Amino acid sequence: MRVLLTGHQGYLGTVMAPVLNAAGHEVVGLDAGLFAGCVLGPTPADPSGHRVDLRDVTAEHVAGVDAVIHLAALSNDPLGSLAPELTYDINHHASVRLARLARDAGVRRFLYASTCSVYGATGGDDLVAEDAPLRPVTPYAESKVRVEDDLHALSDGDFSPVYMRNATAFGYSPRLRADIVLNNLVGHALLSGEVLVLSDGTPWRPLVHAADIARAFTAALTAPREAVHDRAFNIGSEINNVTVAEIAEQVAEAVSGAKVRITGENGADPRSYRVDFSRFRAAIRGFDCEWTVKQGALELADAYRKHGLTKDDFERRFTRLAVLRAASATGAVDDTLRWRR
Ligand SMILES: NC(=O)c1ccc[n+]([C@@H]2O[C@H](COP(=O)([O-])OP(=O)(O)OC[C@H]3O[C@@H](n4cnc5c(N)ncnc54)[C@H](O)[C@@H]3O)[C@@H](O)[C@H]2O)c1
Repeated sequence: MRVLLTGHQGYLGTVMAPVLNAAGHEVVGLDAGLFAGCVLGPTPADPSGHRVDLRDVTAEHVAGVDAVIHLAALSNDPLGSLAPELTYDINHHASVRLARLARDAGVRRFLYASTCSVYGATGGDDLVAEDAPLRPVTPYAESKVRVEDDLHALSDGDFSPVYMRNATAFGYSPRLRADIVLNNLVGHALLSGEVLVLSDGTPWRPLVHAADIARAFTAALTAPREAVHDRAFNIGSEINNVTVAEIAEQVAEAVSGAKVRITGENGADPRSYRVDFSRFRAAIRGFDCEWTVKQGALELADAYRKHGLTKDDFERRFTRLAVLRAASATGAVDDTLRWRR
């Protein structure tokens, strides 16, 4: 397949492109390149692609494409809360526009990177499946719910959107993100000797390795239409349904000498959900996640040591909000996060 991969220069896209290539697909990227410089280790060999803002996509970008994998977004809760209107413009409106253009161009499958954050404040220890009520508690999560709804309205006999509700990702990517929980805790442990948890540690936070997400999307791309058409799937594994305090313990085991400190200073985090991942395993026979949290913590610690992670990189270069604030402060991007040059 010829696959348009939006967000190919992000944390997940950089891992996904080679997995798609290895499965025999031709990948065309599309990204504004906001985090293209967030590289830890060797510079990745990106597929050819369009450097374009999602809000400026035209019919030309989707012409001749068999499928779209749509990852590009302002990708986390702090970003979304800082600029909710931008989150809705980019994550919601521009995503739905892209889907319309794709449908009009005859694209048959549209894999959308949604999130388990759509379950929001489910509370309790029960496993939530895809038909659970959606209770997003941030503009970021709300934007994902709105896109799912609008894509559903676009689905028809020729156009199959698929809602891939990823758990929180972890693991090494050549374009690193340090603002997701495991990547953050491992970095902090190495740099300071402490596994520092600012919440009270009790929320459930299911995790999934970036490489397992890439494998799941690759499998969904060619799955029979009836298995995936207009369906939501939680992407992850029950063995990685963990609380933040458990994640911290795994990190302390992976980084020798590191001690867990749970300060609770940020209070209880309302985002807590424990997730049932069985629907995707049933739809895609033979699929299962390969990575555990502990393996991911060891992998990250090795990569951070090998590539010489510094405190400055950790706090600025690999933290999405800090990168965008710096780009804005230097005038590289305007206040709508568009490049000035
Ligand atoms: N990483 C996770 O834990 C996680 C979990 C669930 C869902 N997701 C979703 O997966 C997708 C990818 O996440 P990620 O971790 O790789 O995020 P990321 O921030 O590393 O990458 C997002 C990419 O989108 C691009 N982008 C942002 N705004 C754009 C715009 N206006 N025009 C064009 N490109 C733009 C950025 O330049 C970046 O390369 C996102 O949709 C995110 O919401 C991620």
